[in-house]
Amino acid sequence: MSDRTLGVLVHGAGWVAGEHIKAFKNNPHTRVVAISSRKVESCRRRAEEAGLEGIAFYTDYEKALAHEGVDIVSVCTPQQHHAENTIAAAEAGKHIVIEKPIANSPEEMRAMLAAVNKARVKTVVSFVLRWNPLFETVKAMIADDALGDIYFTETDYQHDISSWWTGYEDARKKSLGVSAMLVGGCHALDAARWFAEKDPGKAAIPVEVFGYSGGYRKGLEIEYNYFANTWQQAPPLEYDDLEVVLVRYSNGAMSKVSVNFGCVMPYTFPIEVFGTRGSIRDNRVWSHKFPGQKNWVTIPTILPDSADVSHHPFQGQMNHFVDCILNDRESHCNLADAVHTHAVAFAALRCYETGRPVRLPLPELVEWNE
Ligand SMILES: NC(=O)c1ccc[n+]([C@@H]2O[C@H](COP(=O)([O-])OP(=O)(O)OC[C@H]3O[C@@H](n4cnc5c(N)ncnc54)[C@H](OP(=O)(O)O)[C@@H]3O)[C@@H](O)[C@H]2O)c1
Repeated sequence: MSDRTLGVLVHGAGWVAGEHIKAFKNNPHTRVVAISSRKVESCRRRAEEAGLEGIAFYTDYEKALAHEGVDIVSVCTPQQHHAENTIAAAEAGKHIVIEKPIANSPEEMRAMLAAVNKARVKTVVSFVLRWNPLFETVKAMIADDALGDIYFTETDYQHDISSWWTGYEDARKKSLGVSAMLVGGCHALDAARWFAEKDPGKAAIPVEVFGYSGGYRKGLEIEYNYFANTWQQAPPLEYDDLEVVLVRYSNGAMSKVSVNFGCVMPYTFPIEVFGTRGSIRDNRVWSHKFPGQKNWVTIPTILPDSADVSHHPFQGQMNHFVDCILNDRESHCNLADAVHTHAVAFAALRCYETGRPVRLPLPELVEWNE
């Protein structure tokens, strides 16, 4: 492994950026050298919070990309900028951390894949839950045959995404957020794929999607405020708050995945994994590896039970990515892999219009299918 220090530019100095900065600051092989954003005060605030001195601030992304010593760019802007920001970083020859959702259309994903492949740079997408301790434990147990062959996974993103979130004013709009599955539910789609594949370094490849959307929040000018446990006036969500999607994979397994922005309760991320020799429900295991088992075995670990970014395992994600760069390895969570997750969210939108299942790859992505 090379022992050189990699310089990092963090672009988009908001909520999640603070956690990216912390993780790169703590990694022994990286140094944050610059922060860019719309406002220089936001860059300064993030640097002060992290105790970083002597770093550069930019409001011009092109100039930031040209800053000397930048090897990695962390794209932390709102989702409608991710495609353009990623393509510019790839063209500048930088390795890229891409926040989810990676893009707002299949066409954007195609352009990103072309740019990243041409530049031969490394990418990791922030499906950060892959580094959550429960996720790591469940994936390791699946790989170790504790459940036999996986035939069904079920995951749900249940979260009252609303105006408490700094990114909500953009993300609530149909033109910028696109759908609940894209904005938040993509985490559950990714988890369903991850657990539906036994190979420890791969996620299942979706081949068909069907779904319904509904709920009650679209257009409503009142929202639940979980922190105050009350209801308040707020600008409306411009798309359905509830989506339920069925996915079939190339390995024969299936998933049911929901996103629910209308739930009146604290954040939850339930997980169910069913195999031919065992089952997992959150941190409870039933397995042929425990002969004579009479009750669920509970794993005392950290669950994906908080929506706070400070609870998310960004350190694990960034350590993994730095390791991939230094050892010239591709991440299991790279752009090409994340395209499969996002394709399900876009396919679901086509189902709601036609009432018919959608085959994958989407026509726009046929040439990129792996
Ligand atoms: N992986 C995860 O678990 C996770 C968790 C949270 C968020 N996210 C994702 O991360 C992304 C950012 O979310 P967030 O919660 O950090 O949102 P946020 O707090 O609103 O931060 C976004 C930042 O981007 C900056 N920005 C906006 N437009 C820009 C532009 N045109 N050029 C440059 N900078 C611009 C804003 O900068 P100024 O302050 O300078 O105006 C803002 O500070 C979203 O895609 C979100 O879905 C992922």
